[in-house]
Amino acid sequence: MGSVNIDWKNLRFEYIKTDYRYVSRYKDGSWDEGKLVEDNKLCISEASTALHYGQQCFEGLKAYHTKEGKIQLFRPDENAKRMNKSLKRLLMPEIPEEKFIDACMQVVKANEEYVPPYGSGATLYLRPFAIGVGDNVGVKPAPEYLFCVFCVPVGPYFKGGLKPVNFTVAEHDRAAPKGTGGVKVGGNYAASLLPHEIAVEKGYADCIYLDPSTHTKIEEVGAANFFGITKDDKFITPKSESILPSITKYSLMHVAKEYLGMEVEERDVYIDKLDEFKEAGACGTAAVITPIGGIEYNGDFHVFYSEEEVGPVTRKLYDTLTGIQFGDVEAPKGWIK
Ligand code: COI
Repeated sequence: MGSVNIDWKNLRFEYIKTDYRYVSRYKDGSWDEGKLVEDNKLCISEASTALHYGQQCFEGLKAYHTKEGKIQLFRPDENAKRMNKSLKRLLMPEIPEEKFIDACMQVVKANEEYVPPYGSGATLYLRPFAIGVGDNVGVKPAPEYLFCVFCVPVGPYFKGGLKPVNFTVAEHDRAAPKGTGGVKVGGNYAASLLPHEIAVEKGYADCIYLDPSTHTKIEEVGAANFFGITKDDKFITPKSESILPSITKYSLMHVAKEYLGMEVEERDVYIDKLDEFKEAGACGTAAVITPIGGIEYNGDFHVFYSEEEVGPVTRKLYDTLTGIQFGDVEAPKGWIK
């Protein structure tokens, strides 16, 4: 640690080229062993399905430096499982869980210098992804695939870290029922660029997506999941097959129940019933927990706990989750690798 010249405390969620990335190719029915390379450019056919038909998916997970100087990954097996769901949905070849985890570990080890120090608040974000490549012009699966993992040291996704931010409700839909909302494919994020831009132009950090069938229920908060804390201290998060199943969200549900003794529930959350919550937040690997100050909907602005301060339950959830991730709080079995 220490020879790279990075201002750890002021890192944002932005790309920085690190030294090594992992690349493996799928050809003739199998993945090759994969290797670490220094070049951060990929050379692919102009007719790659990833470029035309969106045959690509990705993951996001983080490596943490503990107080003792150890480097650890948080639930990479869950990312491997979710990546395989995305791959299956797009008719791409699955990646064995051990290969996925091994690739992540190789990348972290090779870029050890870029794992932010304990206490800086920053982490090393890993971005595994797979793309369809090779010569193909018809709408059909690619003849070959690449599975890559790169890493970037990152700070908070939303400016300010654990500080409330405000959201508006998108006029667009992010994902269709029975579409690809529940898997981590680039198309979902391409569809979110315009609504995000509109929200930012209106002065909000990002937008909330409602369910595409009735536009009455909250689905996602930008690229993160939603949770609310009811007045009687229940942890509530929306349930829908077009929500990307956030590993952070499911980890928080466990933390809320097993560490904080709260009741947890996955169920419909109505945009016109925000009053039921005394606190709310966005959660995801990149966002960790970002408290939601308020939500604008149809010209009304609903404030939860405060636009300036973090609510006490949100803070406890954040401290416990990040405590587990940084090795300060005992983790449930199998969560840390
Ligand atoms: C993550 O939390 O890893 C995400 O997927 C958000 C991201 C698209 C920046």
